[in-house]
Amino acid sequence: NRSDAFRSGLLAWYRRHARALPWRSAPTLYKTVVSEFMLQQTQVKTVLPYFARWLEALPDFAALARAPEAQVLKLWEGLGYYTRARNLHKLARVLVEMGIENDGNSTVPNAAAAATRWPIKKSAAPQTREDWLRLPGIGPYTAAAITSISFGARAAVVDGNVVRILARLTADATPYRDSSSAAKAYTPLADALLNPAHPGDHNQAMMELGATLCLRRKPLCLTCPVRSLCACVRLGHDAEDFPKLAP
Ligand code: ADE
Repeated sequence: NRSDAFRSGLLAWYRRHARALPWRSAPTLYKTVVSEFMLQQTQVKTVLPYFARWLEALPDFAALARAPEAQVLKLWEGLGYYTRARNLHKLARVLVEMGIENDGNSTVPNAAAAATRWPIKKSAAPQTREDWLRLPGIGPYTAAAITSISFGARAAVVDGNVVRILARLTADATPYRDSSSAAKAYTPLADALLNPAHPGDHNQAMMELGATLCLRRKPLCLTCPVRSLCACVRLGHDAEDFPKLAP
């Protein structure tokens, strides 16, 4: 069916084209959390040097929890939206209080392992979207990103990229007031399309598709791996006209 075709086309494309990013090679819970906080409102290209400096200075949750706020803000300087840095700091302190000092030095060896369960010592780390939503600074996006990538949780991420892809895929002409109401409206579809065997890779593939092909302006539809499933292509609409903005 069409959902299966979407999942498999997207994943095959991602496995061939995914950029090698430092939080993707040998991922740990800590790297995933730090990268997702940094990437929330900032492009990959900008995040890269910040991520490297951060990991060098503060290699795990314990180091971050111990760090003075001034050092944390200094390392964040230039990324903007400093609430993210303060929340990340607070989150590290809460996780360390829960007994998560580092990641148990464990990495997610591959996507298949992540899809089953993270092979870490049975740590106190919360593992579901709902558990993460209760932690400081964690919203629907970060909760889904972190738990799908680190624990194989079946939680779809819905950010601006995903909204754009789904609005085009369905040629949905509904005008959305703002990004959070659009994200909310698309969550059921995003969850239904999620690849249950590879939730973390599926989510990263959606972000990658939005960042590299399904662009806001001048999308590269001719090279899109799911073009045969796209309602804009089928109906002859210009993908650039979706999603619709409320007047
Ligand atoms: N944007 C948000 N999370 C991302 C990730 N894991 N990889 C690439 N871009 C992202």
